[in-house]
Amino acid sequence: MAVQTKVLRPFLKWAGGKRQLLPQIRPFVPKSFETYFEPFLGAGAVFFDLRPERAVVNDLNTELINVYRVIQQDVDELLADLRRHRNDKDYYYQVRDMDRSDTFGQLTPVQRASRILFLNKTCYNGLFRVNRHNEFNVPFGRYKNPKIVNEAVLRAVHQYLQQQQIQIFNEDFEAVALKAQPQDFVYFDPPYDPVSDTASFTGYNINGFGRDTQVRLKRVMDTLTHRGCRVLLSNSATAFIQELYQGYTQVPIMAKRAINSNGQRRGRVQEMLILNYPVERST
Ligand SMILES: C[S@@+](CC[C@H](N)C(=O)[O-])C[C@H]1O[C@@H](n2cnc3c(N)ncnc32)[C@H](O)[C@@H]1O
Repeated sequence: MAVQTKVLRPFLKWAGGKRQLLPQIRPFVPKSFETYFEPFLGAGAVFFDLRPERAVVNDLNTELINVYRVIQQDVDELLADLRRHRNDKDYYYQVRDMDRSDTFGQLTPVQRASRILFLNKTCYNGLFRVNRHNEFNVPFGRYKNPKIVNEAVLRAVHQYLQQQQIQIFNEDFEAVALKAQPQDFVYFDPPYDPVSDTASFTGYNINGFGRDTQVRLKRVMDTLTHRGCRVLLSNSATAFIQELYQGYTQVPIMAKRAINSNGQRRGRVQEMLILNYPVERST
């Protein structure tokens, strides 16, 4: 039985988060499958919406995956540590700049997870963005009353990650995706191919995700397709992506983009869902 609880939902705000697109994505999710794979997990909007009983989830961002693992294993300690934080500008910069000091490596996994959750709730726009030295560089957000300790959500996520068979990895997507077997369902939500040179948001981690990596991802989709896995992929509707995935079903959807290095280009842009299986229509 899938876990049913209203508060089981993403606990972080994440660039490229799929929450607003869920109504457009749900109709394309296969009605049944064995194991769910999400190799670019981010805040996990689709994962928490589907609440699979068996899943393999992954992200290359080490700080992000540490938060999932700590919630899975040490939620009480995490909640206790979160309660120590304050929504204060000087304090914020003290916590933010910990990754600039040699002692950062001495923080426990719980302290690191607590730091990321605190920064996510109190930083400007709730972004995770690091500079080329992998240092968190988002300014203070000046929110009146941010919910730094969201106990109900964190406990629901803890219970779900404990009770179901959820494996959490912190690797490049390829090796994790290639663990999928026939009848498994893989949802790929990679960093998007930029719609213009200024539009790319590359603050997830220090490794960029260029067109060579988009091509590598497409080859992984080909391998999984031959293996008999069902694969759904989100990306932007650029000419490059449309051509790369020729032969697969391509469904255009409209999305509101919130994160863009050029603020004037915020608005509705076209995205794609790309899939390798026939859509099952509900009767
Ligand atoms: C578009 S976001 C995923 C958003 C997510 N679906 C959500 O709803 O929040 C892309 C994610 O891919 C991760 N990523 C970037 N390069 C990666 C790689 N080579 N392997 C695995 N994950 C990667 C980033 O850290 C980021 O969290």
